[in-house]
Amino acid sequence: MNLFDVYPLNDITIVKAAGSTVWDDQGREYLDLYGGHAVISIGHTHPRYVHRIEEQLHRVGFYSNSVKIPLQQELAEKLGRVSGKEDYQLFLCNSGAEANENALKLASFHTGRKKIIAFRKAFHGRTSLAVAVTDNPSIVAPVNQTDHVLFLPFNDEASLEAAFDGHEVAAVIVEGIQGVGGINVASESFLRTIRRCCDQYGAVYIADSVQCGYGRTGQFYAHDYAGVQADIYTMAKGMGNGFPVAGISIAPHIQPRHYMLGTTFGGNHLACAAALAVLEVMEEERLMENALAVGQYLTEGLQGLPHITEVRGRGLMIGIDLPAELSNVKRNLLFKHRIFTGEAKPNVIRLLPALNLTRAQADQLLEALGKELKG
Ligand SMILES: Cc1ncc(COP(=O)(O)O)c(C=O)c1O
Repeated sequence: MNLFDVYPLNDITIVKAAGSTVWDDQGREYLDLYGGHAVISIGHTHPRYVHRIEEQLHRVGFYSNSVKIPLQQELAEKLGRVSGKEDYQLFLCNSGAEANENALKLASFHTGRKKIIAFRKAFHGRTSLAVAVTDNPSIVAPVNQTDHVLFLPFNDEASLEAAFDGHEVAAVIVEGIQGVGGINVASESFLRTIRRCCDQYGAVYIADSVQCGYGRTGQFYAHDYAGVQADIYTMAKGMGNGFPVAGISIAPHIQPRHYMLGTTFGGNHLACAAALAVLEVMEEERLMENALAVGQYLTEGLQGLPHITEVRGRGLMIGIDLPAELSNVKRNLLFKHRIFTGEAKPNVIRLLPALNLTRAQADQLLEALGKELKG
């Protein structure tokens, strides 16, 4: 049997990892500023994380959601505290798409409505509703096409207000910083307008925090910078530092009823152990503060380099806009300088490293990019 060929691959096999360093099967060392696609939050193979999962595996790895799992309650309390949403309710699942799928479904159950507002360049996942609110027709299958979604320009308050007029809107879904779309920061005033419109028209504000959340920007949720609360926060990537775990944090006014949502694997013992280890390390090592400080340091360093059109983002979610003719810089970073980064169209380098990145590691990128961009 062959693998179903859906990804263009770099010819590299990673066999070992620690912190923000990974090694390939030839013994070559790389700096990981991609974090395995924003997933590695506390660093690869963090000892506390490895220990907690290992220990849990020896006790019980899995049992179904038909019995009490105290680790889930422990996780809910800790997440509520660290994220500053102690009165919210947690539903656990397995991936970012699934988190958004459940959030949208819940918004529709809650309001009894069908219309969803999403934004240009948004990415929310590949399952049916999540992909329907994603602005990329090439990944929307005919069966996923729907008239229920209205795409509006990002950061355009006037068109948002106009769209509410005349539509029965169930939900607005928005990334605090668009990731796949190229690191586009939602303005604070735009997020406040979403909050105000949702309040005025009885719609649900869904903050997709799958990529921009979990402390990456220095706030727990990037949306927090706007100073207003969303009704539902969706999260995944950094939550398990590589263990597949995701969740939605739901405001207290949204009431559950039995069987409205459900999952086999979501919130299993191992997933909770992984997620708890992540939050413990984030707190003890003050990783949100580090993300903010090192992010700022990196951003300022990047702004001093030639040929860069724009540096966007917050904390350790950074987009470096390069002119089209410098299309080989990302590749050179990987194969000449051994630095993993992410990308976005048309020519954006995306930095999504672990939140405990050091200044010395940031300097490594600045030095390599300095060489690539000189002259
Ligand atoms: C903002 C955002 N939402 C949702 C998703 C989907 O997450 P997953 O791939 O875990 O389904 C992603 C993945 O890149 C994302 O960036």
